[in-house]
Amino acid sequence: MFKWQDSFSSNVNVFDEQHKKLFSLGNRLLDVVHTSRDADHYDDIIEVLDELKAYTVYHFNAEEALMEKYNYPKMMSHKMQHRKFLAKVEELLSKDINTNQIDITLELLTFLADWIQNHILDIDNQYGEFFNEQGEY
Ligand code: FEO
Repeated sequence: MFKWQDSFSSNVNVFDEQHKKLFSLGNRLLDVVHTSRDADHYDDIIEVLDELKAYTVYHFNAEEALMEKYNYPKMMSHKMQHRKFLAKVEELLSKDINTNQIDITLELLTFLADWIQNHILDIDNQYGEFFNEQGEY
Protein backbone atom coordinates (compact mmCIF):
# COMPACT_ATOMS: atom_id res chain seq x y z
CA MET A 1 0.00 0.00 0.00
CA PHE A 2 1.16 3.53 -0.78
CA LYS A 3 0.85 5.44 2.48
CA TRP A 4 1.91 9.04 2.97
CA GLN A 5 3.84 9.82 6.15
CA ASP A 6 4.59 13.22 7.62
CA SER A 7 8.29 12.36 7.52
CA PHE A 8 8.02 12.42 3.70
CA SER A 9 7.34 16.14 3.76
CA SER A 10 9.47 18.43 1.61
CA ASN A 11 8.51 21.33 3.93
CA VAL A 12 6.68 23.04 1.06
CA ASN A 13 2.97 22.45 1.62
CA VAL A 14 1.70 22.80 -1.92
CA PHE A 15 4.22 20.26 -3.18
CA ASP A 16 3.42 17.82 -0.38
CA GLU A 17 -0.26 17.97 -1.34
CA GLN A 18 0.63 17.31 -4.97
CA HIS A 19 2.95 14.44 -4.00
CA LYS A 20 0.08 12.79 -2.13
CA LYS A 21 -1.71 12.49 -5.45
CA LEU A 22 0.91 9.99 -6.62
CA PHE A 23 0.28 7.87 -3.55
CA SER A 24 -3.41 7.77 -4.33
CA LEU A 25 -2.75 6.82 -7.96
CA GLY A 26 -0.45 4.05 -6.74
CA ASN A 27 -3.22 2.69 -4.56
CA ARG A 28 -5.61 2.71 -7.50
CA LEU A 29 -3.13 0.58 -9.43
CA LEU A 30 -2.82 -1.80 -6.48
CA ASP A 31 -6.61 -2.22 -6.62
CA VAL A 32 -6.22 -3.26 -10.25
CA VAL A 33 -3.71 -6.02 -9.47
CA HIS A 34 -5.67 -7.19 -6.43
CA THR A 35 -8.87 -7.78 -8.35
CA SER A 36 -9.51 -10.57 -10.82
CA ARG A 37 -6.94 -11.01 -13.58
CA ASP A 38 -9.85 -11.76 -15.89
CA ALA A 39 -11.51 -8.41 -15.29
CA ASP A 40 -11.09 -5.62 -17.82
CA HIS A 41 -8.97 -2.84 -16.28
CA TYR A 42 -8.22 -0.96 -19.48
CA ASP A 43 -10.22 2.14 -18.53
CA ASP A 44 -8.67 2.28 -15.04
CA ILE A 45 -5.13 2.04 -16.41
CA ILE A 46 -5.74 4.70 -19.05
CA GLU A 47 -7.32 6.96 -16.45
CA VAL A 48 -4.28 6.62 -14.15
CA LEU A 49 -1.86 7.24 -17.02
CA ASP A 50 -3.84 10.30 -18.11
CA GLU A 51 -3.79 11.61 -14.55
CA LEU A 52 -0.05 11.01 -14.38
CA LYS A 53 0.37 12.97 -17.57
CA ALA A 54 -1.64 15.84 -16.13
CA TYR A 55 0.48 15.58 -12.97
CA THR A 56 3.62 16.08 -15.04
CA VAL A 57 2.18 19.40 -16.19
CA TYR A 58 0.78 20.96 -13.02
CA HIS A 59 3.20 19.51 -10.48
CA PHE A 60 6.46 19.66 -12.41
CA ASN A 61 5.62 23.13 -13.70
CA ALA A 62 4.90 24.30 -10.15
CA GLU A 63 8.20 22.96 -8.82
CA GLU A 64 10.19 24.25 -11.77
CA ALA A 65 8.60 27.72 -11.58
CA LEU A 66 9.71 28.05 -7.96
CA MET A 67 13.18 26.74 -8.81
CA GLU A 68 13.47 29.31 -11.58
CA LYS A 69 12.17 32.10 -9.37
CA TYR A 70 14.93 31.50 -6.82
CA ASN A 71 17.58 30.12 -9.19
CA TYR A 72 17.71 26.76 -7.40
CA PRO A 73 21.27 25.41 -7.90
CA LYS A 74 20.15 21.86 -8.74
CA MET A 75 17.40 22.95 -11.12
CA MET A 76 18.80 21.51 -14.35
CA SER A 77 19.39 17.98 -13.07
CA HIS A 78 16.00 18.09 -11.36
CA LYS A 79 14.27 19.12 -14.57
CA MET A 80 16.00 16.25 -16.40
CA GLN A 81 14.42 13.79 -14.00
CA HIS A 82 11.01 15.32 -14.62
CA ARG A 83 11.50 14.85 -18.37
CA LYS A 84 12.35 11.19 -17.79
CA PHE A 85 9.14 10.72 -15.84
CA LEU A 86 7.10 12.16 -18.70
CA ALA A 87 9.00 9.98 -21.19
CA LYS A 88 8.14 6.89 -19.15
CA VAL A 89 4.45 7.79 -19.07
CA GLU A 90 4.49 8.37 -22.84
CA GLU A 91 6.31 5.05 -23.35
CA LEU A 92 3.65 3.18 -21.36
CA LEU A 93 0.84 4.95 -23.20
CA SER A 94 2.37 3.83 -26.51
CA LYS A 95 2.24 0.16 -25.50
CA ASP A 96 -0.54 -2.29 -26.24
CA ILE A 97 -2.20 -1.69 -22.90
CA ASN A 98 -5.34 -3.63 -23.65
CA THR A 99 -3.64 -6.97 -24.14
CA ASN A 100 -0.99 -6.45 -21.42
CA GLN A 101 -3.05 -4.90 -18.65
CA ILE A 102 -1.50 -6.62 -15.65
CA ASP A 103 2.09 -6.45 -16.94
CA ILE A 104 1.77 -2.73 -17.62
CA THR A 105 0.12 -2.13 -14.27
CA LEU A 106 2.98 -3.94 -12.51
CA GLU A 107 5.56 -1.99 -14.53
CA LEU A 108 3.84 1.26 -13.61
CA LEU A 109 3.63 0.29 -9.94
CA THR A 110 7.35 -0.48 -9.87
CA PHE A 111 8.08 2.80 -11.61
CA LEU A 112 5.94 4.80 -9.16
CA ALA A 113 7.44 3.11 -6.10
CA ASP A 114 10.92 3.83 -7.44
CA TRP A 115 9.98 7.44 -8.22
CA ILE A 116 8.62 8.00 -4.72
CA GLN A 117 11.76 6.52 -3.17
CA ASN A 118 14.38 8.12 -5.38
CA HIS A 119 12.77 11.35 -6.51
CA ILE A 120 10.17 12.52 -3.99
CA LEU A 121 11.94 11.29 -0.86
CA ASP A 122 15.42 12.25 -2.03
CA ILE A 123 15.71 14.71 -4.92
CA ASP A 124 12.58 16.69 -4.05
CA ASN A 125 13.34 16.77 -0.36
CA GLN A 126 16.68 18.41 -1.14
CA TYR A 127 14.91 21.64 -2.09
CA GLY A 128 12.97 22.00 1.18
CA GLU A 129 15.59 23.84 3.15
CA PHE A 130 16.51 26.01 0.16
CA PHE A 131 12.91 27.11 -0.42
CA ASN A 132 12.32 27.63 3.29
CA GLU A 133 15.29 30.00 3.33
CA GLN A 134 13.51 32.00 0.60
CA GLY A 135 10.38 32.15 2.78
CA GLU A 136 8.48 29.45 0.89
CA TYR A 137 6.70 26.85 2.99
FE1 FEO B 1 7.85 16.44 -6.95
FE2 FEO B 1 10.42 16.92 -8.62
O1 FEO B 1 8.77 16.20 -8.46
